[in-house]
Amino acid sequence: MKTKIFCDIADFKIIKIFNTKSIVDGFTTNPSLMRIAGAKNYKAYSLKILKVCNKKPISFEVFADEPKEMLKQAYEINTWGKNVYVKIPVVNSKGLFMGQVIKELSNKGIKLNITAVYTYEQTKKIYKSLNKKTKSIISIFAGRMADKGKDPLPIFKKSISLTKKSKNTEILWASTREAYNYIQAKQLKCNIITMPPKAINQISSFGKSYKAMTLDTVKGFLIDSKKSKFKI
Ligand code: G3P
Repeated sequence: MKTKIFCDIADFKIIKIFNTKSIVDGFTTNPSLMRIAGAKNYKAYSLKILKVCNKKPISFEVFADEPKEMLKQAYEINTWGKNVYVKIPVVNSKGLFMGQVIKELSNKGIKLNITAVYTYEQTKKIYKSLNKKTKSIISIFAGRMADKGKDPLPIFKKSISLTKKSKNTEILWASTREAYNYIQAKQLKCNIITMPPKAINQISSFGKSYKAMTLDTVKGFLIDSKKSKFKI
């Protein structure tokens, strides 16, 4: 089983480059990444991205906080392209589970990426709300969890085991912190991992020997010492 690699980025220029790479199977964006990319008009910027990426799956997130408005945005985003997944947060900012929103959209055949997931209980509730005939992604935020001293592996194990019977439901390792997370996701048989461009590039140097790594490290220190003209 292959763990697909998505690129976690909203920058149009970077998407254009990574879209041509065979290692990249798709893309994920979020409102923060859109802001970093300098997007001023959400729809116009998304459509610009979709001009260069119109085959590989790409997620665009709703940013409304009320279920009614969220639904409105989701229906609109869904019309932007056949390869679009609409990203819906598992809860809104009031902590309210977006089950009804998920249910309605999924029953209408709209491809969803349910985001900001941190617990197995959330995965279970999302899975129940999804129409198994509709393609869907559940994004579990590994890095942000680990940043707070929590082990992400148990929730992945349980979530993957729950959803593995449904071929249309994929678990996505989100919030990647390092290239090694790809190995971890593969070992777990996680369907997808979304990685920042830097971590994707690092995969090409996998397999480098310990000896070569030691030499590179020592050489790097030596070069910097010389550049700074250090003397004792
Ligand atoms: O796109 C969702 C997720 O991957 C964000 O990751 O690095 O902001 O924790 P991060």
